[in-house]
Amino acid sequence: MTNQEMIDEINKLKKEKNAVILAHNYELPEIQDLADFVGDSLGLSQQAAKVDADVILFCGVHFMAETASIISPNKKVLIPDLDAGCSLADSITADELRKWKSENPGAVVVSYVNTTAEVKAETDYCCTSSNAVKIVESTPKDKTILFGPDQFLGRYVAAITGRDIKIWKGSCHVHEKIGEIDFDKKLEENPNADFLIHPECGCSTSCMLKSSLYDCNIKIYSTEGMINHVKNSETNEFVIATEVGILHRLKKLRPDGKFTPMSEDSICEYMKMITLDKVLSAFKYDQHIVKVPEALAEKARIPIERMLEVV
Ligand code: 13P
Ligand code: SF4
Repeated sequence: MTNQEMIDEINKLKKEKNAVILAHNYELPEIQDLADFVGDSLGLSQQAAKVDADVILFCGVHFMAETASIISPNKKVLIPDLDAGCSLADSITADELRKWKSENPGAVVVSYVNTTAEVKAETDYCCTSSNAVKIVESTPKDKTILFGPDQFLGRYVAAITGRDIKIWKGSCHVHEKIGEIDFDKKLEENPNADFLIHPECGCSTSCMLKSSLYDCNIKIYSTEGMINHVKNSETNEFVIATEVGILHRLKKLRPDGKFTPMSEDSICEYMKMITLDKVLSAFKYDQHIVKVPEALAEKARIPIERMLEVV
């Protein structure tokens, strides 16, 4: 079957099943082009909560499909490949979080949305990269915060808010490595570019501090924040520090733009597991259903809904 034949068949089945296709900004170009909505973790959660459909076909990683199942329990949620995981979500378990909480009684738990449903069920507030600062600022000022699992986002949020934050030592294997890149050399090579950095990058806090020392435009953004910045920027040169899948949307948005990835090797192999043939099989054979058991979903829904109320 050619790609176009697969796309036609997918669209036919999507209609028959009254389904929507949601895709993350890191998905393959052909998957992004097929989707009804492409966005960051926050945008995808908001869409999953409000979308009017019987089936959500989630082109992203497992925790994202789980989040959709938690907030839309009456919809069928499909993920085309069950092995599409996330190294960051794997960096904390519910048992580890329970132990951390017991060592810090009275602390407020803020967990990144890149976590399993079990971890969310032990969490007070969820956050994403686009709202972490806002969420932390919305918690009572006198409370210690346990922030996890991403240490780099945690450090960034602590530096901005000045709050008493204990940080879990987890990380994303793709973004952590971006911290090892010679930032000063990139700046020398791209003196007129805006530098857009994802807060999961190992260099996010040092980059933020550099922006006040150097004469350059460095911004820390979620993936959708980067899209919005590029859409509205007067510049047309950008250095992008995140997974390279986002370049597809950025280039479509600004054909006049010069986009330089901070690292061309920043590829999330989990996101790239979602392919056209697997999307077609997902619709054809109703696979793979992601359903969080209701007793667990009830607990995991609380921190997600708190987050969605704040933003
Ligand atoms: P965003 O919410 O910024 O899209 O990030 C999700 C993610 O998995 C980053 O690696
Ligand atoms: Fe997880 Fe990193 Fe992939 Fe995002 S890029 S889904 S944080 S492994």
